[in-house]
Amino acid sequence: MALWGGRFSSGPAGDVFALSQSIDFDWRLAPYDIRSSLAHLAVLEKAKLIAEGDAEKIRTALKQMQKEVRDGTLVPSSEDEDVHSALERVMTERLGAIGGSLRAGRSRNDQVATDLRLFALDHMLELSGFVVALQRAILTKADEYVDAPAPGFTHLQHAQPVLFGHELAKHAHSFARDIDRIKDWYLRTSFSPLGAGALAGSSLHLDPQASARELGFDAAIANSIDAVSDRDFVAEALFILSMIGIHLSRMGEEWCLWSSTEFGWAKLDDAYATGSSIMPQKKNPDIAELARGKAGRLIGNLTSVLAMLKGLPFAYNRDLQEDKEPLFDSLDTLALVLPAFTGMVATTTFNRAKMEAASSTGFSLATEIADFLVRAGIPFAQAHEAAGQCVHLCETTGRDLHELTDAEFAMAHPSLTAEVRKVLTVEGAIASRTTFGGTAPANVRSQIVALNSKITENEIWFADKTKHFSGMMGQ
Ligand code: ARG
Repeated sequence: MALWGGRFSSGPAGDVFALSQSIDFDWRLAPYDIRSSLAHLAVLEKAKLIAEGDAEKIRTALKQMQKEVRDGTLVPSSEDEDVHSALERVMTERLGAIGGSLRAGRSRNDQVATDLRLFALDHMLELSGFVVALQRAILTKADEYVDAPAPGFTHLQHAQPVLFGHELAKHAHSFARDIDRIKDWYLRTSFSPLGAGALAGSSLHLDPQASARELGFDAAIANSIDAVSDRDFVAEALFILSMIGIHLSRMGEEWCLWSSTEFGWAKLDDAYATGSSIMPQKKNPDIAELARGKAGRLIGNLTSVLAMLKGLPFAYNRDLQEDKEPLFDSLDTLALVLPAFTGMVATTTFNRAKMEAASSTGFSLATEIADFLVRAGIPFAQAHEAAGQCVHLCETTGRDLHELTDAEFAMAHPSLTAEVRKVLTVEGAIASRTTFGGTAPANVRSQIVALNSKITENEIWFADKTKHFSGMMGQ
């Protein structure tokens, strides 16, 4: 059943209908559409635009439909164009002419914008729970390996030794920024388009602020043209989801490297690894690889919506129908990846002895020599040069830095006394990095405590917001 047609002499051609139809993907907005219909009904009733008895019948029918959508007994037909027309068809079939009453003062333009905002808010809040669970798993691992030295890298070359707990905890900070992004996005997104009508508002004395409150939004959108045209919230959500995907991808790349035979640092739990169909010995990090691969798809969804929005005239244009699938896909993708990834992190064990043994190789303590000289008053450029000479000498004679003789140190620089050997240990190098954010043990421990308490604060914030939006299926 089309929601228009009075001025047309025929229905759309078959291929036009096929192109136009969105029911295959937008049916998942049904719970939100019904929820916003209930809010719209209350406003119409208050404005005395629907007789009390009729309003009650519509309310009962909507609640019944909500229940049936939830348990899967109410499904759309292949004749339905979209979720809005499908639900109106069902209501009209059940109630007769009064089933069409809700269209007063409302258009599919403000309706779809409202539904999608509700959907996005509900799902982004839900997703933040998965991100928080991953953060917790990372910090638990970081705490477990808070005293384990390992090489730190730049350019994938040994750079300076770090605590492995520090190395792991850095990922929890990336996800903390994603959580902050979701909170910030929420504050801009929690506004209701309902009441904007097609684009200009309504002459029917409706109350958009009342329906906004009823739906759990902070307020109604202040410009009806903006209300039906704005999809910033979709683009921004897709950016946040891409960023989460990129963080997972970079972390996944480390898991792939660390679990390789060459590194041999990480051991994946059997339940979080996969085998090969031909090579019986193989144990592959497929979860990490899928996370890395799916980042591409998340970025693709973001760019497709940005490109669709660019240059789009105001107010509603049918192009906007293309906003849904990318958003649904990115949310679904991460809802699939995050729990598996969290399980992988929580169950991975690391080889302390191997990481520690590797931590002093590659002359990763050369900076200690330079810093020793700087503390003795030597300008850094000279100190760097002297430390470089020590490395060169070691390389040409096949030794490690602490194996140089007193005379050789003195030759590199007169201020390089035998005392320098004291800083040429991994433990000493790590312990000396006491700057805020540095890798010294006490700093890493307090960093983990601070981040854990920030996560707890966020959990309280999210629980409060979730009360408004989540579980809309059940209402
Ligand atoms: N299926 C449409 C969409 O997703 C609903 C809005 C249709 N509005 C219109 N004026 N044709 O955007």
